[in-house]
Amino acid sequence: MEQSIRVLKHLEATSEVRFQLEYALAGGCAIDAHGTPLQDETMESARQSHAVLFGSVGGPKWEKLGFDLRPEIAILRLRKELNLFANLRPATLFEPLIDASTLKPEVIHSLDLMIVRECAGGLYFGEPRGIETTSNGGRRGYNTETYATEEIERVGRIAFNLARTRRNEVCSVEKANVTESGLVWREVMTELHRREFSDVILRHMYADNCAMQLVRAPKQFDVIVTGNMFGDILSDLASMLTGSLGMLPSATIGAATSGHYNPAVYEPIHGSAPDIAGRGIANPMAQILSVAMMLRLSLGMTKEAELVEQACINALSAGARTPDLGGSLSTSQVGDAVIAQMERLSIPA
Ligand code: IPM
Ligand code: MN
Repeated sequence: MEQSIRVLKHLEATSEVRFQLEYALAGGCAIDAHGTPLQDETMESARQSHAVLFGSVGGPKWEKLGFDLRPEIAILRLRKELNLFANLRPATLFEPLIDASTLKPEVIHSLDLMIVRECAGGLYFGEPRGIETTSNGGRRGYNTETYATEEIERVGRIAFNLARTRRNEVCSVEKANVTESGLVWREVMTELHRREFSDVILRHMYADNCAMQLVRAPKQFDVIVTGNMFGDILSDLASMLTGSLGMLPSATIGAATSGHYNPAVYEPIHGSAPDIAGRGIANPMAQILSVAMMLRLSLGMTKEAELVEQACINALSAGARTPDLGGSLSTSQVGDAVIAQMERLSIPA
């Protein structure tokens, strides 16, 4: 997060732009300081903002807490209460990283796919849910996967509209062969496509097959649209195609008002990486690239977004890599490299 703020400060120092930044704790540190993963004041200030730039939450220290007290609640509450329902997770290969991927170069060369993950419903929020004691004294945990017409249509529209600005292809992913929610998902997507988006190419795929196809031939995909749980899993998988989980940014958006998404949440798809926490070696790229998505989608600052992205690519080309990418630089050294590249690139008027 520190490196992302440096990027914003650099934009301020080199242009007329001024960001009104407010800082708040979320997740584990908020639990430690305030006894709750997200204070109501923080929720309110998020509601008043154009965008929320979110770090990462979670860690072994808080794993024993009940579900309603865990660090993860911070992000789930933001998504839910800001009425955000679509999580955009781009898996784009930055060419300098082609050797960092575990996959063969020809499989991932020029990879550019977008996962649109529904994030306000499905298994994460469905009722009933809980843990109960069974008659033999054992325990039974249960969750419910539900998807209703409107929930599917609104995320479907985001995916189809995005596809129109890309390669015009949507792959809708579910398990219609075993779940009712998956069957409804497929039928609603088919109907939405017929009614409003027949110019876009739509195909359907089972989630297990999609996982396999993503590793076998990921370039067959343009936009993937899927539910909450499958989207969570498939986006982690897709991130590794690009070299590291530390590379993937995300935007969580709701309905657009006058072309911009406000408020919306921007965060790396990775978690808090407790195994390396505090060592100063986490890859800041996904967080910095989330800033770029924020500039573009919530603040209407396309040129600045491109500048940040290009600076990241140039920094990677110049060898600015943390250990997850096989490099030996620290988090702040990669930050230095990105800022240095921003200095070299100027914003065209
Ligand atoms: C993500 C994360 C979150 C999720 C957790 C932290 C709640 O894994 O953004 O992908 O499961 O959505
Ligand atoms: Mn995840």
